[in-house]
Amino acid sequence: MANYLITGGAGFIGSHLVHALVARGDQVRVLDNFETGLKKNLEPVWDRIEVRAVDLADADAVQSACEGIDYVMHEGALPSVPRSVKEPRPSHRTNIEGTFNVLEGARLAGVKRVIYAASSSAYGNQPGFPRVETMAPQPLSPYAVQKLTGELYMQAYWRVYGLETVCLRYFNIFGARQVPDSPYSGVMARFILMMMRGERPTVFGDGEQGRDFTHVENVVQANLLAVDAPATLAAGRVFNIACGQRHTLNETYALLATLLDFKHPPIYGPEREGDVRDSLADISAASAALGYVPRIDFEEGLRRTVAWYRDEFAG
Ligand code: UD1
Repeated sequence: MANYLITGGAGFIGSHLVHALVARGDQVRVLDNFETGLKKNLEPVWDRIEVRAVDLADADAVQSACEGIDYVMHEGALPSVPRSVKEPRPSHRTNIEGTFNVLEGARLAGVKRVIYAASSSAYGNQPGFPRVETMAPQPLSPYAVQKLTGELYMQAYWRVYGLETVCLRYFNIFGARQVPDSPYSGVMARFILMMMRGERPTVFGDGEQGRDFTHVENVVQANLLAVDAPATLAAGRVFNIACGQRHTLNETYALLATLLDFKHPPIYGPEREGDVRDSLADISAASAALGYVPRIDFEEGLRRTVAWYRDEFAG
């Protein structure tokens, strides 16, 4: 049993980590400003965790939240490429300054290891598939720059202070509890809810852009492995976390439409600013160093996710 701090613990990915850690008997402290996170996501475990309503920009409160903690999983962020394009300052503050505050807090509190939610957006539009961690990053959007800056900070804290940090580059994560009805919602949640409501989703561009869509259970597994991996293999390193398969948006749309018995074609709109064209991961580094093997494939992930939204948004 160990003490964990999950930043963004009331959010989509963070809450999955909280549930998994509580289930195996670990002590969990959640830090969340509840701007995009939801209390509802933590309801089943509320009595078994400590929750601090704190903004990542509040350095003192973040530092205090790190006291007594063994492992930090830093999921707290203001996500979304289009949000960062429209209004870069808030996400800059949360994603860069907030990440710095977590690292400083962790260093001063003597935390053993920080696992960081990095992003596949770091690769940008360069040639060469699948994406390998040794490729030079080419971030396109403010969001991509912010998440990459966090990685560089993580690595510097390992090199300079010896704080063990592990960066997990998530590739388009989807699953239960992803917010479906914000203008900045991930495409999967958005399409599912719209189809359930009988509304035609919009595909930005020709729909032939590809993503390595990854079910959230795989991310939970990757984080737990990243905590246990020997420092010699994991500390100061960056790992792709994905399924290692590329699916186009048109293909994804068709599969969702079948699962939801939705008969209409999408509306095609203009391409989104800052959008990456294609994304596909090489996951062999995570496999070799962490023992990561995706357990839930794309189709199974879609089925589980659709089932969850059906239950949650029924009627
Ligand atoms: C990016 C990152 C991902 C990160 C996420 C955080 C890449 C390859 N991926 O995801 O690692 O976790 O930001 O927010 O950079 N789309 C539509 N219609 C919609 C909504 C989206 O066609 O209504 C399209 C987008 O234009 C895009 C694709 O669907 O081509 C996926 O979009 P989204 O779910 O927002 O994720 P990314 O921006 O790819």
